[in-house]
Amino acid sequence: MCQGPHHAGPEHGPAVGLSAVTSHGPARHRCAMTTVPAALGLTCDQVASLLTAAGRAPSLHNAQPWRFLVRPQVIELWADPQRRLPAADPTGREQRLACGAALFNLRLALHGLGIRPLVTLHTDGDHPELLASIRFGGRRPPTPLQQQLLAAVPRRRTNRLPFTDDPVTPGERAVLHKAAMEEGAWLHLVDDQQERSVVACLAAEAHALQRADPAYQAEVARWTAVTPGRDDGIPARTGEWRPGAHERWVMRDYTGGQGRSNTSAGIPFEREPAIAVLTSYALGPYGDVIAGQAMQRVLLTATVEGLTTSFLSQLIEVERAREQLRRLIGGPRGPQVVLRIGRGWPVPATPRRSVEDLLLHATPETV
Ligand SMILES: Cc1cc2nc3c(=O)[nH]c(=O)nc-3n(C[C@H](O)[C@H](O)[C@H](O)COP(=O)(O)O)c2cc1C
Repeated sequence: MCQGPHHAGPEHGPAVGLSAVTSHGPARHRCAMTTVPAALGLTCDQVASLLTAAGRAPSLHNAQPWRFLVRPQVIELWADPQRRLPAADPTGREQRLACGAALFNLRLALHGLGIRPLVTLHTDGDHPELLASIRFGGRRPPTPLQQQLLAAVPRRRTNRLPFTDDPVTPGERAVLHKAAMEEGAWLHLVDDQQERSVVACLAAEAHALQRADPAYQAEVARWTAVTPGRDDGIPARTGEWRPGAHERWVMRDYTGGQGRSNTSAGIPFEREPAIAVLTSYALGPYGDVIAGQAMQRVLLTATVEGLTTSFLSQLIEVERAREQLRRLIGGPRGPQVVLRIGRGWPVPATPRRSVEDLLLHATPETV
C-alpha cells in the first residue's frame, strides 16, 4: 500500500443551429483535394488543413474520438461516442481531454491562417457530445510563439522508448509550467524524492489492478499492436520496446507482448525523468476540455523545447490512485494527466484517419 505526505476561459454563448446553414445547405466549393465544406470565410482546402491539424492530437490508444460538423459560420467539435474506451475511460473524461487537444490544434491552425478563433465551450446537457463551437473572430497575424507551436503539431509524438539521463532544465520546466497556466491549468512537477517514490508506487499498483481486469486487457488488445494499414490504434512498431516488469515509470506494454525486451537489449530506461501532473481549475466535462487544451499546449511546448513525452494514465484511470495522487499534490482539483518528460530519440508517427472520416453531417440530433 503506497503512503505519503498529505497536503492538505473561454466565452459562453448560444450554440449555432439551423440559422448557420443556408436554405441550400452548407456552401460547398469545388476543391481538388477534399470534399470538406468551406467555412468561416476559408476555402474547403483550408478547412481541410484545419481538421488535419486537429486530427494530429494525441488520444488514448489513438482512438481519435472527435468529429467535426462544418457549417458556413461555425465549426463544431463533437465527441464520437463510438470511439470512447469504456474500460479505461468509463466517464469519457480522457475522450474529452483528447478532444480538447484537437481543439487546441484547430485554434493554432486558425491562427496560422491569420484568423482569431472565437471559441464557445458547451456545457449544455441536451447535447453532451457537442463540446465546442469555433467561429471567425477577426483577422490577426499569428505571433511567433503560435507559429512555433503550430510547427510542432506534426512533430509531436508520444515516446515510450527509453529517454536519455539528461535532466529537464529549470528554464524548460518554467516554460512548461507557463504553457499550462496560459490555458487555465496548473502543472505540478513532482520533484520531491519522497513524493516521487509514492507516485511510482501508486502507478505500479494502478497498473497491477488494470492488468487484472479482463475488460481493460481486452480493450488494450483491440487498440494496440494493431495490424499495419489500420488508420487508428497503436501499430506494433511504435511500441517495439517492451518494458520490463521492474520499470519504475514505463509499465504499459503496447506491443501485445511481442516487443523486444529493453532489458535484454541493454538499453535501460532513464532513472529520473521529469514527472508532471496537470490539473485544471474548472471541473466537470467543461473542465476536461480545458485541461485537454492545456495538455496539448504543454506537449507542443515540450516539442518546441526539444523535449519528448509520454503518459502515465493508470494513475488517473484508477480512481483510488487518482484520489491518492490528488491528496499527495494538494489542492481541491482532480489530476487530469500525468506526463513523463525528458529527452529521447525520434519515434515514428502513429496513423490518422482521413479528414473526410472526421466529418459529422447534420442530422435532426445535431441541429
Ligand atoms: C488522455 C490520454 C491518455 C493517454 N494515456 C497513455 C498512457 O497511459 N500510456 C501511453 O503510452 N500513452 C498514452 N497516451 C498516448 C496515446 O497512446 C497517443 O496519443 C496515441 O497513440 C497517438 O500517438 P501520438 O501521441 O504519438 O500521436 C494517452 C493519450 C491521451 C490523450
